[in-house]
Amino acid sequence: MKLYSQEQLEAFGLSGLLPEHVAIIMDGNGRWAKQRGLPRPLGHRAGMERLKGIIRLTSELGIRALSLYAFSTENWRRPKEEIGALFGLLVEYFTSELNELHKNEVCIRVLGDIAPFPEIVREAINCAIAKTISNKGLKLNIALNYGGQNELLRATRALLQEIIKNGLIQEEINLEQLEAKLDTVGLPAVDLLIRTGGEQRLSNFLLYQSAYAELMFLEEFWPDFSNECYLNALRAYQKRTRRYGGL
Ligand code: FPP
Repeated sequence: MKLYSQEQLEAFGLSGLLPEHVAIIMDGNGRWAKQRGLPRPLGHRAGMERLKGIIRLTSELGIRALSLYAFSTENWRRPKEEIGALFGLLVEYFTSELNELHKNEVCIRVLGDIAPFPEIVREAINCAIAKTISNKGLKLNIALNYGGQNELLRATRALLQEIIKNGLIQEEINLEQLEAKLDTVGLPAVDLLIRTGGEQRLSNFLLYQSAYAELMFLEEFWPDFSNECYLNALRAYQKRTRRYGGL
């Protein structure tokens, strides 16, 4: 597994602390395709190709966790053909990239509930999760049928079940117990949230986990988000002062 040394990081212009957890809303695939007169699925394919490079770089930089918004609970509203194309890409990605990811010690996890996905997609994903579960490198979280509100609802239900089972009283419930029911259990909070494609909103992504995240809204469409754009975002992150409500 390749990992950049401190000197190499400095050569990239990265001198301070890197974020522990980066979250990315990969927006703009459709517009990237339209700009070129291509069908939208080809934009998603280009997006998948870009994603491979960004995952590799994140892993080599030694960043602990990367969460990617690949399919939201709202994306079911898209045309059937586009949803089918996205499912096809997921199967292709989890099948063709698995050995490489495993070799690089990447540990794959899904955020969201993939139960409504077709069996072939679930199988490819579950196989990737099972193979990489003990890996100690980058924690790669792919958000699929994910929505922050839905995650909080599922977590609340799970917590309530535990409360009833163990007869806990209200005052005993704390944030740690709620966090233990989130899809991101065990991961650090999001430090840096990047959205490509020019829109400036969170679109229901990691609402709880991004409470103190530094937000970056970038103009590039996702397939155009080069390694250099990513390094620029990381350099900009290192210049920000984080206060967490203090002074
Ligand atoms: C948003 O762009 C992008 C998505 C809804 C899908 C993201 C999927 C990928 C990058 C490829 C597949 C992922 C994996 C994990 C293999 P948009 O379609 O909303 O773009 P637009 O705003 O320009 O229409």
